Amino acid sequence: MIVVGAGIAGLATALRLAPLPVRVLTAGALRENTATAWAQGGIAAALGHDDAPALHQADTEAAGVGLVDPAVARAVTAAAPECLAQLEQWGARFDRTPQGDWALGLEGAHRRRRVVHVGGDGSGVAILNALIQQVRSTPSITVSENTPVNGLLADAGGVHGVRLAEGALPGRAVVLATGGLSGLYAETTNPLGAVGAGIAMAARAGAGVTDAEFVQFHPTAMAVGRDPMPLATEALRGEGATLVNGAGERLMADTPGGDLAARDVIARRIHAALAAGDRVYLDGRRAIGSAFAERYPSVHAACRAAGIDPATQLIPIRPAAHYHMGGIAVDDRGRTDLPGLWACGEVACTGLHGANRLASNSLLEGLVFARWIAEDIAASPVRSVADAGDGPTPPTATVPTAPWVAPWIRALMSRSVGVVRDNDGLARAIDALSAVAFDRDDPQRDHALTALLVATAAQRRCESRGGHLRRDFAHTQSPPPARQALTLAALCPQ
Ligand code: SIN
Repeated sequence: MIVVGAGIAGLATALRLAPLPVRVLTAGALRENTATAWAQGGIAAALGHDDAPALHQADTEAAGVGLVDPAVARAVTAAAPECLAQLEQWGARFDRTPQGDWALGLEGAHRRRRVVHVGGDGSGVAILNALIQQVRSTPSITVSENTPVNGLLADAGGVHGVRLAEGALPGRAVVLATGGLSGLYAETTNPLGAVGAGIAMAARAGAGVTDAEFVQFHPTAMAVGRDPMPLATEALRGEGATLVNGAGERLMADTPGGDLAARDVIARRIHAALAAGDRVYLDGRRAIGSAFAERYPSVHAACRAAGIDPATQLIPIRPAAHYHMGGIAVDDRGRTDLPGLWACGEVACTGLHGANRLASNSLLEGLVFARWIAEDIAASPVRSVADAGDGPTPPTATVPTAPWVAPWIRALMSRSVGVVRDNDGLARAIDALSAVAFDRDDPQRDHALTALLVATAAQRRCESRGGHLRRDFAHTQSPPPARQALTLAALCPQ
């Protein structure tokens, strides 16, 4: 079995598959280039005395603006408590109250406190460290670092393994857990290696990609001249921090939900203010003040590195690409359209997030689907991998894919496929990206292909919904237009 990616989705899948033998492949070193390590908020689960999975499901559906699959949301929110207990068995230590209960944070569009966290805003790195330690002590798992995957071994019978620089690596099951694509944008909160590699690989092998147009822009990325932009976690607003404009006035005062409205709503409001020439800040002076360093050490450190004392000063912010709701189309067991290929975590589109993900549902999704995928693989009939062979596979390109996205693609995505879109900008983006995506000698071809999938899906959705805002189609259609599954064949120039 092969797992590609070493964030929460990949490592949890490998652990759930034990004692079946698994090889985990990661392009860099462990902890490098995985958004899991950067997650500040935590994991959402209905654990409070006033909460229930059905409420968590309802909030997930409301945030997703009509496109959440209710069956998936029901199953994921119901599975959350068990998966958190498993994570604790693997060594994660979530913050507790002095009474020993879960310390539950509040984030936007949640009607209950339900975000478990570690070390205030250090959740991701603490969870990842626990998983890595567990993986290292699990004999059935082999981790290959600095091992980029160049593509899938696929034929009419499905996927039989992956292509590495040194040749073919056959496997009876391949799980893509390569994370998201927000590194395709000039303004992002993600590691710059989050370039949608898994989406490009799967699409080139013939898999469908769903909801690609829905990119979540986090409202409060810190505008302090860094690339990627440091995140100021939504948990700060959960504790009372507010958004203010250049004149110090509350930005969200007149919007339902206020500073804790859904992410897409707040990102649009901030984008409009910035486009009108205003400035926007996060004000945590009164709500958090001198407790910043202790309660939010990551945010505090990023502020101090930029010369800002968040206890006494405002934090300049702007929206930045943060999460991709769309991805490789999968069913409720994480199966893609291609036999032998599963997808887990941000690279997959399960239907949980719809048009806009509820805060802290992302690590949860990876964790829960890891279990279901492992169960499905374990129960699947063993397929022959003989066809894959172990020698070098026919070359599909003469140069390897570049590890980093060209600045022109990042600039284009932020300008034309960003918070606000319109047909003219999308059409220009599609022209520019198509020219590269189908040039097998261009090292940017896979980045261009993933970007092209987003731009094409955005052009085809002639309405505004969640993370997809069209200047030229500002309305939200009722009922929603059908979800779009794109394939490579639909994009190929004729
Ligand atoms: C945050 O802490 O604001 C980000 C959490 C998330 O993306 O769910």
